[in-house]
Amino acid sequence: MSEAVAGAATVAERFTQLYGTEPEGVWAAPGRVNLIGEHTDYNDGFVMPFALPHTTVAAVARRTDGRLRLHSGDVDGGVVELRVDELAPESDRAWTAYPAGVVWALREAGHPVTGADVHLTSTVPSGAGLSSSAALEVVVALALNDLYELGLKGWQLARLCQRAENVYVGAPTGIMDQTASACCTEGHALFLDTRDLSQRQIPFDLAAEGMRLLVVDTRVKHAHSDGEYGKRREGCEKGAALLGVDALRDVPYDGLDAALDRLGDEEEVRRLVRHVVTENERVERVVALLQAGETRAIGPVLTEGHASLRDDFRISCPELDLVVDTANASGALGARMTGGGFGGSAIVLVEEADEEAISKAVVDAFAAAGFTAPRVFAAVPSPGAHRLS
Ligand code: GLA
Repeated sequence: MSEAVAGAATVAERFTQLYGTEPEGVWAAPGRVNLIGEHTDYNDGFVMPFALPHTTVAAVARRTDGRLRLHSGDVDGGVVELRVDELAPESDRAWTAYPAGVVWALREAGHPVTGADVHLTSTVPSGAGLSSSAALEVVVALALNDLYELGLKGWQLARLCQRAENVYVGAPTGIMDQTASACCTEGHALFLDTRDLSQRQIPFDLAAEGMRLLVVDTRVKHAHSDGEYGKRREGCEKGAALLGVDALRDVPYDGLDAALDRLGDEEEVRRLVRHVVTENERVERVVALLQAGETRAIGPVLTEGHASLRDDFRISCPELDLVVDTANASGALGARMTGGGFGGSAIVLVEEADEEAISKAVVDAFAAAGFTAPRVFAAVPSPGAHRLS
């Protein structure tokens, strides 16, 4: 029996203990890291995430009596019971808002979801910028899509999950994380155009080329609903309005200087615009380098992206900067923060032979700075959401 199936059996058993019946199936949805393309998704731009091996697993069975019963093996507390016809946006501040929000979004879109029993458990670190929320949303959406035979595609599930997060949970996030969790494939990074959700799977097999991608969880907890993310988003929308475009995606890279001139003394908006326009160009550059087989050359582009997020977008923090600076000073090919910022995780591209020394250098630097010890692991591009049993 494979590890995933053994995991599914354990989750199904727990479901049966909790609800007294067997689940109709077990599903998994992964967390993600973003290789490049940060804070571009709500600007209709490009992103390039890949799925982590860490997943949220859900055992689910339908109900026909309007009850939604939710249980998490990772949170203290028992089964939470809600009624599907009473779900209301921004009424819930607990973890249950994510799965309940998905049920709300499906029903609001006209899908006949009449209830469910759900048991969840996750290996995606929460608050680490690795999309634990998206994994939770997508696994529930995929399970209900299968059980209620809704026939929705991965990108459609991602849109519904984003709506759950924006409207029901109340966090103004973009579409990247949910699409990554729903649509990524093993061995690839997902080149996603967030304007029309067109996708290309770009082969990204670092092990075959003697490299590794380290994820460093700084253990600084980030939160999206705390305002700073929303402020950046509003600043970008202001920039687009001032420039007379639908979204900053429409500002061409070779028109950046002219756009910045037009923004005059709007200093903050100028910085935000510069980040988004240069970041979209960096995504395109990384895609071109990967397709040309020049994987090592993406390292400096990652580091450039970090500088832009730190200096122009201003969403880094001392811990993230310390990872990037220490890793690069110790021989990494490149490094950057990943995800929403203000904490969470950084990624570091290294030669396989340097993996241990660079990890140690980062851990030692955190100890010397008096920071909480970071969690470091190597990430391989893993499958997107799927049914386990
Ligand atoms: C968070 C959001 C995403 C995206 C990133 C930044 O992860 O959920 O939509 O905006 O931040 O790239």
